Amino acid sequence: MSTAKTKSKSKAKAKAKNGEKHAETSLQSASSPSTETGAATTAAATGAKGAGAAKSEREPIEPLPVIDYVGYESEHQLQGMMYLIENDLSEPYSIYTYRYFLHQWPKLSFLAMDKEKQTCIGVIVCRLEPHGRSNSNRGYIAMLAVSKEYRKRKIGSTLVLMAIEAMKAGGADEIVLETEYTNQGAIALYQQMGFIKDKRLFRYYLNGVDAFRLKLFCGPGVEGGANVPLNPEHSSSHS
Ligand SMILES: CC(C)(COP(=O)(O)OP(=O)(O)OC[C@H]1O[C@@H](n2cnc3c(N)ncnc32)[C@H](O)[C@@H]1OP(=O)(O)O)[C@@H](O)C(=O)NCCC(=O)NCCS
Repeated sequence: MSTAKTKSKSKAKAKAKNGEKHAETSLQSASSPSTETGAATTAAATGAKGAGAAKSEREPIEPLPVIDYVGYESEHQLQGMMYLIENDLSEPYSIYTYRYFLHQWPKLSFLAMDKEKQTCIGVIVCRLEPHGRSNSNRGYIAMLAVSKEYRKRKIGSTLVLMAIEAMKAGGADEIVLETEYTNQGAIALYQQMGFIKDKRLFRYYLNGVDAFRLKLFCGPGVEGGANVPLNPEHSSSHS
């Protein structure tokens, strides 16, 4: 009987401390996974996550970084732009490609900067020129990238919106771009802004992947790109 009492007492104690014990065990297991089975390691990882989440609840919440949007000014910004694009786009570009766009259409490229760190965390590079027999003005988005840690905060859409406005001001009748046909994120972003799928381009990229050409009609009387609200936390210092 006493054994049973002791057992039920310890059961109750164990129940009461269950969460804490589980977290402890989980953290131990997580830090020494080699001693555990695969299943135990998975549970440990979950437990460790839970414990981590509880810990972070007590930590002060870091304020979101303030983002400045600036127009391209000179080559002193080029290194940051290239670093970002080289990390995020599959297609390699030479410095001459950057210069081709930036020297001819400097007003059509924009950077998003982490104001505090003064680092370039987003970039868009475009051109605008007559196209086809009708001589309509075609805008082209050549490069768009947002640093991984800053994504999903409307920085990409804000850059696209700024580029659209600049190209429309320059007389664009339409704006096009290509993206890997598997790039769901970019396709969703552009479709949200009014772009439509125009063509599928077979093995368009050097890596053999097909592209979609996306197009936005934006001649006189056509609304486009205006339906995405800018993030109010963002500031813009381009002119
Ligand atoms: C594509 C990219 C620029 C998006 O930048 P971002 O700042 O995260 O985009 P936003 O926060 O403005 O996203 C706007 C919308 O795009 C869509 N979107 C963006 N990233 C997405 C993703 N990974 N999956 C699905 N939809 C996504 C969503 O509809 C999103 O709206 P929501 O936040 O209301 O859901 C960024 O992911 C990136 O740099 N990718 C690598 C480079 C690249 O693919 N460039 C485009 C080549 S054309």
